[in-house]
Amino acid sequence: MTAERARITVFDTTLRDGEQSPGCSMNQQEKLRLAHQLDRLGVDVIEAGFPIASDGDFESVKAIAAAVRRPIIAGLARACRPDIERAWEALRDAARPRIHVFLATSDIHLQYKLRITRDQCVEQARESIRFAKSLCDDVEFSPEDATRTDPEFLCRVLDAVVEAGATTLNIPDTVGYTVPSEFGDLIKTIRQRVKGIENVTISAHCHNDLGMAVANALAAVAAGARQVECTINGIGERAGNASLEEIVMAMRVRPDRFAYETGVVGEQIFAASQMLSEITGVPVQPNKAITGRNAFAHEAGIHQDGVLKNPLTYEIMTPQSVGVPDSKLVLGKHSGRHALGIRCEQLGYQFDRRALDDIYRRFVRLADKIKHVEDHHLLELIRDTHKPSGSATPLIEKIVPTQAAVVNAPTVTPEAAPEPAKPFPIAPHTNPFGAPLPVHGDSHHEQTQQEDYLWGV
Ligand code: KIV
Ligand code: ZN
Repeated sequence: MTAERARITVFDTTLRDGEQSPGCSMNQQEKLRLAHQLDRLGVDVIEAGFPIASDGDFESVKAIAAAVRRPIIAGLARACRPDIERAWEALRDAARPRIHVFLATSDIHLQYKLRITRDQCVEQARESIRFAKSLCDDVEFSPEDATRTDPEFLCRVLDAVVEAGATTLNIPDTVGYTVPSEFGDLIKTIRQRVKGIENVTISAHCHNDLGMAVANALAAVAAGARQVECTINGIGERAGNASLEEIVMAMRVRPDRFAYETGVVGEQIFAASQMLSEITGVPVQPNKAITGRNAFAHEAGIHQDGVLKNPLTYEIMTPQSVGVPDSKLVLGKHSGRHALGIRCEQLGYQFDRRALDDIYRRFVRLADKIKHVEDHHLLELIRDTHKPSGSATPLIEKIVPTQAAVVNAPTVTPEAAPEPAKPFPIAPHTNPFGAPLPVHGDSHHEQTQQEDYLWGV
């Protein structure tokens, strides 16, 4: 019998906190497009914007509230009447509206930014939640800079807002300062001390200044938080917010450690990431976990060899599970003969061992000069290797061609060879994960394994 897994609410703030990152602002049409994708992705809450911030943001929140009906639509407001009224105006037509009110609670913010006392802070928090509650049933409160707030005082503020009607208490690590064990302890303290806490949802909102946003969010969940606030590709203020895809996939890949579930449709993750990047023009860092272009790419020969035999050797999740079409074998100087042979087959050429050796020697020299050997380089190299009169490009070093046989392959002439820029002309055999399978009955395979290893590492 499998144990019950707690359901975690995924609160996506790509359109609000994410949009606050440099170069990531979006217009109404773009926000609406992304909101529909977040809906397909299955997030529970979309924080659509900060309505008082600008007329454009107000209109965007209003448009999303009208068009996206399944998830809760949240709008941010400072702890004051004009902000809350404006947020409500934008949200009131939503099928499931939420007003999200925030007020800083750390001494440094009270003293230098807000210039109010602790007592004034408690009263302002209480009053603003009362007012928000008079407009909307679903009210979230965030004590900004909670992780640098005196825990005693933090609990006092939280007591006041729960009593005033807050339904979610979001605990922000606004400046990305906390560490997992400390953040987990803070959540436990809140659970133990805040009156009425059993009737509200505790949420974690982590920033990534020390690269620990996802770890902190997961620690909060382990300590009892049941909502995580996050963004696609981890975009957000400064170093960003906790990344949605990393939190969700950590729970999926390691249910033994994180026995929680979300409503996120994994197969929509990559599309959401690509859409965001396309809209903002901000590329995804290549080695970004889950959504970076290298997340499922394998260049080292020994890795390529393993992945071709069984993807699980070097992949802890399938590319398809997050909507990435296929794992990519990147051909570079670390690649082995096995991967080269597979790619040649995908391009429509199957060589016997001697022919592949010829190509492989030239491939390695080429890969030494350029970072990635693209398909058109490879096609040129194939043509050149098997056509004595073929002209060499400056990139490809000429070698004495052999009479090596080309088995089961189209005749390699410039006319017959596929166009360089075209997609793979022959569908390779694939394994259940969609990665190409090695050719069976390859009697040379065992002998070449060691050489692949030596070439590849
Ligand atoms: O980081 C933060 O403190 C915030 C709040 C407004 C929730 O984004
Ligand atoms: Zn934030």
